[in-house]
Amino acid sequence: MRKTIKDIASHKGSHTVPLVCLTAYTAPMARLLDPHCDLLLVGDSVAMVVYGEPSTLQADMEMMIRHGRAVANATQNALIAVDMPFGSYQGSREQAFENAARFMRETNCGCVKLEGGAEMAETVLYLTQRGIPVCGHVGLQPQSVNTMGGFKAQGRDEPGAQKILNDAKAIEAAGAFCIVLEGVAETLGVQVTNALSIPVIGIGASAACDGQILVAEDMLGITQGKKPKFVKEYADTASLMESAVKQYADDVRARRFPDTAFTYQALKQA
Ligand code: KIV
Repeated sequence: MRKTIKDIASHKGSHTVPLVCLTAYTAPMARLLDPHCDLLLVGDSVAMVVYGEPSTLQADMEMMIRHGRAVANATQNALIAVDMPFGSYQGSREQAFENAARFMRETNCGCVKLEGGAEMAETVLYLTQRGIPVCGHVGLQPQSVNTMGGFKAQGRDEPGAQKILNDAKAIEAAGAFCIVLEGVAETLGVQVTNALSIPVIGIGASAACDGQILVAEDMLGITQGKKPKFVKEYADTASLMESAVKQYADDVRARRFPDTAFTYQALKQA
C-alpha cells in the first residue's frame, strides 16, 4: 500500500520514527529508493542534476510532469511529491490550482510542494481546500536564489529566524500537511519543529526535525563538484561508475568484449 499524507502526518514528534525522504527523477532510481523511503520528491532540482542547468529556475511544467509520471509509475511504497516549478504558482492562486491539478491528474503524484512563507499562505489554503495536498518549503528557498543573493543558510540572526518561524506557522495554518525546512541553524530547526504540529522535514536544518531529505545523487556521491555542508556522501558511486566505464572501454579496445557469452549464435539446422 502506498503511503498517504496521513501516514506522513503520523510521524510528528520526537517519540516517532523520523521520516526518510529523498529526491527521485527517473524510473530506475525511483525503483531503488522506493522500498526505503516514506516520501520521494520529484524536486525541481531535476533541472540542475539531470539537465545541468545553473539553478532550479529552469525547471518548467512539462519537465516536472515527465519526471513526476516516471517516478510515480515506477513506485508503490513512498508518497510521491512533485515540486511546482518557478512561475507556475506565484502569479495567482487560480494559476497555482490549475497547474497543481495538472500534476495530480497527469503524474499520479500524491501531493505537490511549493516554496514560500506567509506570502504564499492564501495560495496554500486555496489548494488544500480544493483537494490538493500541499507540502510547504521555507528557509532557504532555491527558487528565490536571485533575491536571496545566493545559496546561503537563512535565518541566522534573530529577525531572520523570527520571519522563518512565522512563515512556517502561516503555511501550517493554511493547511499544509508537512513542510520542508532548508538551510537554517540548528536552534531554528529545533524551534520550528517544536512550534508546528505537522512534520518538519529538514535539509540542512538539524537532527531535531521530524524527518530528513537529501538529493539522492548527492548522498550517493554521483554529483560532481562542491556540495552543501549538509550533504553526507554514503557512497562514492561516481568512482564505481568511472571504473566500470574504464573497464568496458579497455575491453572494447582490446576486443575482449563481447566474448562468446555475450554473442548470439546462428540456430542449428535440423
Ligand atoms: O528540489 C529539491 O531537490 C528540493 C529539496 C528539498 C531536496 O526541493
